Amino acid sequence: MASRGHILLQLFVFLGLATTAFSLSPNYYASICPQALPTIRKIVEAAVYNERRMGASLLRLHFHDCFVNGCDASILLDPTPTIDSEKNANPNQNSIRGFEVIDQIKMEVDKVCGCPVVSCADILAVAARDSVVALGGPSWRVRLGRRDSTTASRTQANLDIPSPFMDLPALIDNFKSHGLNERDLVALSGGHTIGFAQCFTFRSRIYNATNIDPSFAEERKLTCPLNEGHTNLAPLDPTFEIFDTAYFNSLVNKKGLLISDQALFNGGSTDELVKTYSLYPEAFQYDFAKSMINMGNIKPLTGDQGQIRVNCRMVNP
Ligand code: HEM
Ligand SMILES: *[C@@H]1O[C@H](CO)[C@@H](O)[C@H](O)[C@H]1NC(C)=O
Repeated sequence: MASRGHILLQLFVFLGLATTAFSLSPNYYASICPQALPTIRKIVEAAVYNERRMGASLLRLHFHDCFVNGCDASILLDPTPTIDSEKNANPNQNSIRGFEVIDQIKMEVDKVCGCPVVSCADILAVAARDSVVALGGPSWRVRLGRRDSTTASRTQANLDIPSPFMDLPALIDNFKSHGLNERDLVALSGGHTIGFAQCFTFRSRIYNATNIDPSFAEERKLTCPLNEGHTNLAPLDPTFEIFDTAYFNSLVNKKGLLISDQALFNGGSTDELVKTYSLYPEAFQYDFAKSMINMGNIKPLTGDQGQIRVNCRMVNP
């Protein structure tokens, strides 16, 4: 057994050299700073206790980081003369939130570790997991060891983050361009089991779509009028503070809020999986955790690439 283990170990070392994803490890901070992960969890739990929606916002922050040049905390960089901040990209502006919680985590983690050893990109990945757990969702061992970018790209953010008006082929294409498959698309869209969307992101659907439950459309119109209330919020699913499978039940009942939500159950190739998740919560939980790891593996900076930022909002001086 020992020698087989040794060969396996060599195999993993080899794979680790061959692909970047393998250089991330759940134990990355175990010896560098064992208090890092408990500290992040404590602050996320407090933030979610204070405002349940913050769990949703932190999950989305990690997603929008990973989909733009990989999970490198580029989304956290504030605008400067040389940084065209992703915060100003269309999908993020007046929409993405949670930056103050990340700042607080970074401050506390650097204090408890004694120096800045935990990357902002890893903080985003752990905070996303802890948010899901805090709202009743599945847990997983977050792969760690990402480093932080020294650049950001508003242009790339506009191109790479999927739009709520996409149909199924466009969504599949978008996820494929990030190395994620149809199963990842459906499982990760289950992130919409928590949180809110603004009226302008779903107005065209509730007024014009035919693949929508009429009473659901009427209900949504009450707080999303045709020509005003653009930023009014509606929950992405009926149980927006609990990480459950109500999102998938809604899709089966034509009560998806965004065009991109209902696209997953609209007579296409993902219908069966949506039905499966709506019937078997354990299947969703298992796949969601797996797909979050896949998403977290998108193009991480490792080794001597990038840096460990001191302040998540700016490149080190
Ligand atoms: C499949 C393509 C996706 C599209 C087109 C999409 C689009 C959107 C839109 C338009 C909103 C509302 C933003 C606003 O009105 O301010 C939203 C919210 C949200 N999204 Fe997505 N999303 C997608 C995938 C994901 C994924 C993969 C995750 C995480 C795994 C995620 C997590 C969330 C969460 C948690 C919220 C609520 C945020 C809050 O309340 O602060 N989304 N999404
Ligand atoms: C509904 O569709 C019509 C015709 O395409 C369009 O002119 C109108 O702006 C749409 N309404 C909404 C709310 O999107």
